Amino acid sequence: MAREYGDVRVRVFSSADHALRCAADRIVDLIAEPAAQARGATLGLPTGRTPIGMYRELVARHRAGISFAGVTTFNLDEYHPIARDAAGSFRHFMREHFHDHVDIPPRQIHIPDGSLPAERVAAHCREYEQAIRASGGIDLQVLGIGSNGHIGFNEPASPRDSRTRLVELHGQTRLDNAAAFGGPELVPRHAITMGIGTILEGRALLVLAFGAAKAAAMRAALLGPIDESVPASLLRTHRQIEFLLDPAAAAGLDTGGGAVSA
Ligand code: GLP
Repeated sequence: MAREYGDVRVRVFSSADHALRCAADRIVDLIAEPAAQARGATLGLPTGRTPIGMYRELVARHRAGISFAGVTTFNLDEYHPIARDAAGSFRHFMREHFHDHVDIPPRQIHIPDGSLPAERVAAHCREYEQAIRASGGIDLQVLGIGSNGHIGFNEPASPRDSRTRLVELHGQTRLDNAAAFGGPELVPRHAITMGIGTILEGRALLVLAFGAAKAAAMRAALLGPIDESVPASLLRTHRQIEFLLDPAAAAGLDTGGGAVSA
């Protein structure tokens, strides 16, 4: 079922798989649009467990004949410091789940470089912002959400006009992402992330959240005050935004008890 919260559209699906297929449809529809095809669609992409099924679906669509050759991608974030080929890096994640399996030319793939020495990160962040602008801006930004309401790696109290930058990760975020590193103490302490201001410049935003661990964050994001203490709440200031949830993530919302049937 769909429910409006102000300008925000929330759709609760019968399952995460159904929502992930819907997210893949949005991307395939976008790259098929004549206007997007003419200049090449630009996607903002997330990592994490949440979008894995969306990438699986996109790879299946590619194998069935859909080309991504005109698409440019910008990832939301990357740990710092981290080797480019480290198993826990988001660059590795993207290759494993998406980029190695579709036909996007490498020059059109952008992921913050977590291997740079700290003194080069600020310039790299400025270049990342410039590259987004040079691509014509992000047409569709797909986002997951942290259990503490973070988006990208914009932790609570991140400024709403923040840009791509180096940030310090919260302990909860390092705990949540420990599995990819073999323990929370092995998760890097910092990350490079698109800022909230950067994210909000995307023409359309699509937020995915599944499972009970996201229910409190979704409730705060959608029903609480729009405030920097819950970065995801700032997404409600965007005019073209849709949340795709499963019933567990929507458990704290008044959605009337229905669900989109698969
Ligand atoms: C990390 C990423 C976020 C992601 C979040 C949720 O912190 N930086 O972009 O949304 O994890 O991850 P998961 O989908 O694994 O719950």
